[in-house]
Amino acid sequence: MSIKYPYEDASRPISERVEDLIERMTLAEKVGQMCQMNGRDDAETWLREHHVGSFLHMLGEETNALQRMAAQTRLGIPLLFGIDAIHGHAFWPTSTVFPTQLALSCTWNPELVKEVGRITATEAAHTGVHWTFSPVLGVARDLRWGRIGETFGEDPYLVSRLGSALIRGYQGEALSAPDAIAACGKHYAGYSGTQGGRDSSEAALSERAMRSTYLPPFQAAVEAGCATLMAGYQAIDGIPCSANRWLLTDVLRGEWGFGGFVVSDWKNVEHMNDEQRVSPDLMDAAQRLVSAGNDVAMNTPRFTELVIDLVEQGDLDETLVDQAVCNVLRLKFALGLFDENRYADLDKGAEIMGCPAHRALALQSAAQSVVLLKNDDATLPLGEDIKRIAVIGPNADDPEAQLGDWVLWSGQLGESGLPDRTRESVITVLDGIRARAGDRCAVDYARGCDVIDPGLEGIPEAAALAGAADVAIVVVGDRLEQIGETKDRANLDLTGGQQALLEAVHATGTPMVVVLVSSKPLTIPWVAKHAQALLAAWNPGLEGGTAVAEILFGDRNPSGKLTISFPYHVGQQPVYYNLIPGWHGEPRYVDLPGEPLFPFGYGLSYTRFAYANLELASRALTEGETLHIAVDVENVGDRAGVEIVQLYVNDRFSSVTTPLKELKGFARVELAPGERRTIELELRYEQLALVNAELETVVEPGTFEVMVGGSSRDEDLLKDSFEVVV
Ligand code: NOJ
Repeated sequence: MSIKYPYEDASRPISERVEDLIERMTLAEKVGQMCQMNGRDDAETWLREHHVGSFLHMLGEETNALQRMAAQTRLGIPLLFGIDAIHGHAFWPTSTVFPTQLALSCTWNPELVKEVGRITATEAAHTGVHWTFSPVLGVARDLRWGRIGETFGEDPYLVSRLGSALIRGYQGEALSAPDAIAACGKHYAGYSGTQGGRDSSEAALSERAMRSTYLPPFQAAVEAGCATLMAGYQAIDGIPCSANRWLLTDVLRGEWGFGGFVVSDWKNVEHMNDEQRVSPDLMDAAQRLVSAGNDVAMNTPRFTELVIDLVEQGDLDETLVDQAVCNVLRLKFALGLFDENRYADLDKGAEIMGCPAHRALALQSAAQSVVLLKNDDATLPLGEDIKRIAVIGPNADDPEAQLGDWVLWSGQLGESGLPDRTRESVITVLDGIRARAGDRCAVDYARGCDVIDPGLEGIPEAAALAGAADVAIVVVGDRLEQIGETKDRANLDLTGGQQALLEAVHATGTPMVVVLVSSKPLTIPWVAKHAQALLAAWNPGLEGGTAVAEILFGDRNPSGKLTISFPYHVGQQPVYYNLIPGWHGEPRYVDLPGEPLFPFGYGLSYTRFAYANLELASRALTEGETLHIAVDVENVGDRAGVEIVQLYVNDRFSSVTTPLKELKGFARVELAPGERRTIELELRYEQLALVNAELETVVEPGTFEVMVGGSSRDEDLLKDSFEVVV
């Protein structure tokens, strides 16, 4: 390509190229860069008539055709294509689908999460995608919320660690690499804190709550170089995120120095008018959005027209438009779009998409995600004496339920023009068990009931199979109709005929192993009491069935630990482990325990680990210092296993209330039978900070308790303390 203008010259620094380009742009061309439209709605017209600079949910040849058109426009500004590649590039039918974020979080394995991001980016990049709307950095609070499964769980530190890892995976060493894509941390911020788990309603959050709990994962994302953020749907304390100048400008750019851009969520402009009603018309909404520092509006068809009018009428300063456009252009240059154009390469993509190496990572991540919640009498792994297995339940052989949200299945996305994901590409739990059982034992299967429909007619057949078997593996959970955006639940019990099915299987007296294939924790106290063994497999992706089978048969030893608490009952919500103490009287409801059924950090193994000799290298810590902590962990069982060693801290007395335990570090440790190792953990002085009443982040002097062990439960923790000296 011949270079006509300085912005076309790849040897110049990005800042110069942006400066040169923006000076050549008309107002309409600039405003087009602030607009992202749905690629399914006549994208060509949006490009030609409104100079729209970005599209979402377009793939493959469609992106190539449109990108070629963009190259022919007056300034040849390339398009940015974004998609929800949330747990794998799962809108592409041959891609690798990984476990969901909540599942992945239970691995406590940032390296693995980073690798999942890397593979997702590689697969997405080959289909013309430059940008994924991932990761979700919300801290899970109320399990009724439909999007809990999209989070990394309930702890801000863990969300920060895993979120940053995923971002680094997507973005690779450099955004300009052809297999790197831009990440989008979302939903900035407080979206997971809406009342009663009602999606996108008001989040009644104080600035202290924001700074203590909801903002840290986003700050970590910015520090990890996250290219973009998405402004949440909801309002915080009366202000919609996209209109929140404090959030989008003062904190994000002022305090954290963010240099990327912010995209609104879908139709945030319209929602300020029709739902939140803070704007009497769309003109006002667009004005508020741009003034607050929201750079790009997602799918607001009138956006370009509104912003042009605002500027021409003198109601919006054009320098705000320029700032937003520069933020967008910087990313387009950084991605190399002006220089390489990164057209989709479907032939090359076909070679790597869902290839054995990628599937191997899907299997590894699914296996590490599984949490063993109960295992009475060493029911698992299944012994050689098991000759007949009854696999029962509606989620035992349902690929759609197993893959979970944000996966193209049976044309969910409308006219994508792509063939569906094949049934054979997904290994369900039934497939996995059949493959693993081989000739070793017989496998019978009955679905038994439905997750939604309350019909019980299939139960007698299922119970008969269970009665004739040596063990019954019952796979229950939730379905797409109950999870995701706009699908909040008031009740978290097992639905349809599932409870009746479990009771019928239990009544046969055959040992019952329950596998939960669910997007999030459900209220299962009956199962916890009556099943001999219980596994949470979440939405484990397309190799999930292999992972579950390998764990059932003992080829793999489960190592996952919960990153989110299982409640006894929905009325216990919220019941996250780092609740602020101070429950008057008994710390419980009169009719329910105060504690969750299974707590944060909990998870069993086929072996056992013993902790001893917690040692702090110092009894006092001051600014700039790091406390070195050591603990001995021993595998006291007879199998190799992985333990997740957790470090919690409590600031004993502080000027404001703080949780009794806050996670500050962890280590994944692999130990052979009988092996004992000293594990070293570090606690930096700044990690002891709280947000005080003046909203300053400070470390206060006094005693801090250190707790180290295999879960957040008191009985699993060794404790000691040290003093902070200021
Ligand atoms: C709305 C969702 O809230 C967001 O998470 C997603 O990325 C966008 N739609 C685009 O699909």
